[in-house]
Amino acid sequence: MDKVKVLVTGSNGLLGQKIVYQLVKRKDIELIATAKGPNRLLKKLGYQYLELDITNKIEVYHIFNTLQPHAVINCAAMTNVDACELNQEDCWNINVKAVEYIATASESIKAHLVQLSTDFIFDGNSGPYSEEDSPNPLHFYAKSKLESERIVQKTMTKWSIARTIIIYGITDNMSRSNLVLWAKKEMDNGNCINVINDQFRSPTFAEDLAKGCISIVDHSAFGVYHLSGPKTYSILELVNIVADFYKLDKSLINPISTASLNQPAKRPLVTGFIIDKAIKDFGYNPVDFLEGISIMDQQIKNNEI
Ligand SMILES: NC(=O)c1ccc[n+]([C@@H]2O[C@H](COP(=O)([O-])OP(=O)(O)OC[C@H]3O[C@@H](n4cnc5c(N)ncnc54)[C@H](OP(=O)(O)O)[C@@H]3O)[C@@H](O)[C@H]2O)c1
Repeated sequence: MDKVKVLVTGSNGLLGQKIVYQLVKRKDIELIATAKGPNRLLKKLGYQYLELDITNKIEVYHIFNTLQPHAVINCAAMTNVDACELNQEDCWNINVKAVEYIATASESIKAHLVQLSTDFIFDGNSGPYSEEDSPNPLHFYAKSKLESERIVQKTMTKWSIARTIIIYGITDNMSRSNLVLWAKKEMDNGNCINVINDQFRSPTFAEDLAKGCISIVDHSAFGVYHLSGPKTYSILELVNIVADFYKLDKSLINPISTASLNQPAKRPLVTGFIIDKAIKDFGYNPVDFLEGISIMDQQIKNNEI
C-alpha cells in the first residue's frame, strides 16, 4: 500500500504537536514535521523532521518540490493577537506572505492544503457563526488570517480552511500558555485574576482540532470548515469551570468588561461556531470543555500528551 505523505508546518506549536503525535501512530501515513529551529517534541522517532521557516520562500519551494507531500497542514502562524497589532510587518510576513508561498508551492505539486484560521475573522455581533456567514475582521491579526484564506482559495484547487477558536491543551516544551493553564496557575498561586465577562467563545480541545484537521485530509474534505468545541460560554464561565474542576478559590476571580481592558487589538464580543458541516461531512465529534480539561488533567498527571 502506498503511504499518504503529509507535511506539517509549525510542528512545535500546540496544534502542530498534537497532529504529529496523532499521525505518527498511523501506518498508512508518511509524516514530515517542520518547524522554525530545532524540534521541541520529546518523541522524535517515526517521522522525518526538517527545519522550515515558512517566510523563507526558497526553502518552502525546495522542501515541497523535493519531498512532494500529498497533503500539507499549515499550523505555523503568528498567533499573539496584540503582538500582531503592534508588529504588523512580521504578522503579514508570517500569516499572509508565507501562506502565499505555501499555497503556490502546494498547488505546483497538486497537494491538498489545510490552512488554519480563526473565529476572529468575524466581528462578534451575531455569533455563533456558520461557514456561510460574512467575515468582518476587527484587528490586524484577523485581517491577516482572512487574507490568508483568500489567497488559499484564489491560488489552489485542493484547499481546505479549518477555522477554530481558543485552543487549549498541553504540549512538550510549551512556548505559550492558554486559558486553562493560565487560570489554574494564577489561582493555584493565590493571585487575583481579571476575567472578561462579556466575550463568548466555543473553546476547542487541541486533540479534537488535530483529529478534525486529519479527517479533512483523510476525507479530502475541500472547502471551509468550522472546528471548535461543541458549546459556547463566556470567558468568565470557562474560568469558573476551571476553578470548580480544580477546587480553587473563586473569590480570586474578578469579572471585568472588555471595554475596561483597553487591549491594542479590539476583540469581537460573541463568536462561537456552528459545527454541523464538519459533523455531517466527516463525523467531527469534539468533547465539551469540562471533559476536555479532565482529559488534559490526566495527561498532565501521566506526563503524556
Ligand atoms: N491558539 C488559539 O487559541 C487559536 C485560535 C484560533 C485560531 N488559531 C490558529 O490555529 C493555528 C495553530 O495555532 P496554535 O495554537 O497551535 O499556535 P501556536 O502554539 O502559537 O503555534 C504556532 C507555531 O507557528 C510557529 N511559527 C511562527 N512563525 C513561524 C515561521 N516563520 N516559520 C515556521 N513556524 C513558525 C511558532 O513557532 P515558535 O513556537 O518557535 O514560536 C509556533 O510553534 C494558527 O493558524 C492560529 O492562527 C489558534
